[in-house]
Amino acid sequence: MEASFTEGEFYQDHFDSRAFNQSFFSRPEGHPDENFLTFVLQCFSKTFSAGKYGGQRLIDVGSGPSIHSVLSACEHFQEITLSDYTDRNLEEIQKWLRNEEGCFDWKPVIQYVSKLEKKSPSEVEANVRQRVKRVLKCDVRLENPFHPETMKPADCVVTSLCLEAACKDMLSYKKALASLASLLRPSGVLVMVGVLGESFYRVNQTRFSCLRLTMQSIKACLEDVGFAVQEINTLPGPKPKENAVSDYEAIFHLVALKTD
Ligand SMILES: C[S@@+](CC[C@H](N)C(=O)[O-])C[C@H]1O[C@@H](n2cnc3c(N)ncnc32)[C@H](O)[C@@H]1O
Repeated sequence: MEASFTEGEFYQDHFDSRAFNQSFFSRPEGHPDENFLTFVLQCFSKTFSAGKYGGQRLIDVGSGPSIHSVLSACEHFQEITLSDYTDRNLEEIQKWLRNEEGCFDWKPVIQYVSKLEKKSPSEVEANVRQRVKRVLKCDVRLENPFHPETMKPADCVVTSLCLEAACKDMLSYKKALASLASLLRPSGVLVMVGVLGESFYRVNQTRFSCLRLTMQSIKACLEDVGFAVQEINTLPGPKPKENAVSDYEAIFHLVALKTD
């Protein structure tokens, strides 16, 4: 029988933040079965280093225990908010921001991004620690994901691999995209990384559901909620029998502007 979709509450009880980082972010290539992290880091770098997108506020929605999604963006925004549904993920980020003993080692990933952007790793690291001003609980299933707090309109919203993990069907996915749009100022930019055709992924032995997406359905939802897609990049996944941790068919990165 099909297991029920693992939503936020399941993450709160079962998502092992440290195991996730260790499995997927110990090296810039990511998990050996998936090898898409360098693609994602390169896409983020290209998007932000061109200097076209910048401003006061950036919100990363569903950051997990991770900071990789803001490494390239951080020098272009003054105030960065990271967020997630689970307390443990927020705590894992805080530990790194405070540079606590035993925090996760982001150096290999930071070094990779610094090399791409011809910067010093210590400069990038210090910049992230300085620019991330808030680490907040969020729930993308809500009309206002930061309820009861009202966020000031953001110039940029970033989200990576969150919506397909958080939304059990296309209706919730579209609503979540509308909620992301509501966090942006008019003409603000959405930078989204996601997976196509994935139904599950594993962190250690725990299986998490994933909403199976097609590029066509994502584009239709984006347009319906008021985004104009500017750019899409995709990378095909590995052969299914060579991947024990997930069944994604491709990873995508896209940039879209809020139209109103
Ligand atoms: C696959 S992880 C992605 C983490 C990170 N952004 C990345 O790219 O590696 C999915 C994340 O979505 C979060 N999540 C699940 N349901 C959520 C919800 N309703 N609202 C916000 N985040 C949620 C989980 O806690 C988890 O951190």
